[in-house]
Amino acid sequence: MTAQIIDGKSLAQKICSDLKQKISALNGNIPCLAVILVGDDEASRIYVRNKQKKAAEVGIDCHIIELSDSIGENALLETIDELNNNPEVNGIIVQLPLPQHLDTQKIIARISPDKDVDGFTPYNSGLLSSNNPDAFVSATPKGVLAMLQSINVNLCGKHAVVIGRSQIVGRPMGKLLLNHDCTVTITHSHTVDLPSITKTADIIVSACGQPQMIKSSWIKDGAIIIDVGINRTDGKLCGDIDFDDVKNKASYITPVPGGVGPMTIAMLLANTFEAFSRQKSHPQHHCCHGHDCHCSK
Ligand code: GUN
Repeated sequence: MTAQIIDGKSLAQKICSDLKQKISALNGNIPCLAVILVGDDEASRIYVRNKQKKAAEVGIDCHIIELSDSIGENALLETIDELNNNPEVNGIIVQLPLPQHLDTQKIIARISPDKDVDGFTPYNSGLLSSNNPDAFVSATPKGVLAMLQSINVNLCGKHAVVIGRSQIVGRPMGKLLLNHDCTVTITHSHTVDLPSITKTADIIVSACGQPQMIKSSWIKDGAIIIDVGINRTDGKLCGDIDFDDVKNKASYITPVPGGVGPMTIAMLLANTFEAFSRQKSHPQHHCCHGHDCHCSK
């Protein structure tokens, strides 16, 4: 068997051109995404630049707020409050990872749930946990789901094995697949005998950051393999899957680059458009930050 390639690049292009059309019909009243970038992590800079470039292509106004590595927690929280309270800003993301001295969970939790287009706040994460359709779903898992739906696989009852338990991919991916009636196993660096688990998978979603770790001997015939890994080895990009080895045993596989990466950006922009649309139809948004909240609602 030779696996069919799931072409994330062209699927993302289609999503972006649909978005572009919807935004051009708004007659100049366009969505706005604010991206907070702290410090000078080189990979983060590249990701953020790519987000801004794609946003411009679809007609979303994307502001990058660059802050120094040495910014204090309170100053960063105040920046988020200002964006929360600015009616012209529809979506807010804080590019991760943050420098060590900042409490990532506290910073993320400060983003208004209505503008949380990364879906990382406890509020949206909770909505996803309870299978509530109002959740903003994190971009990468949402992109992976769209890729699975593009091949018309019936997810109900499938054994999906997620490799990695990060807040950005593994955890929300597991919840999303569960919400689509998969039987989900989330594995991680402490999992015992990972290949014995991946061999039982109908679908593998790998987000562990180990270059070409997954071999054909780890998978069953006809498995669907989604590679979220973006690893740099000898200056070349590769995923977590040993593509050349696995492609003869899988039924579908995603390439790196040109697979999940472009879908992540397309879904972030789709979430930004969704936030914009919700804010236009329900301008008075709620606040769920609790008694020490600093937003002005
Ligand atoms: N760092 C790596 N991926 C992401 C992402 O999807 N969103 C944010 N905010 N930071 C990231």
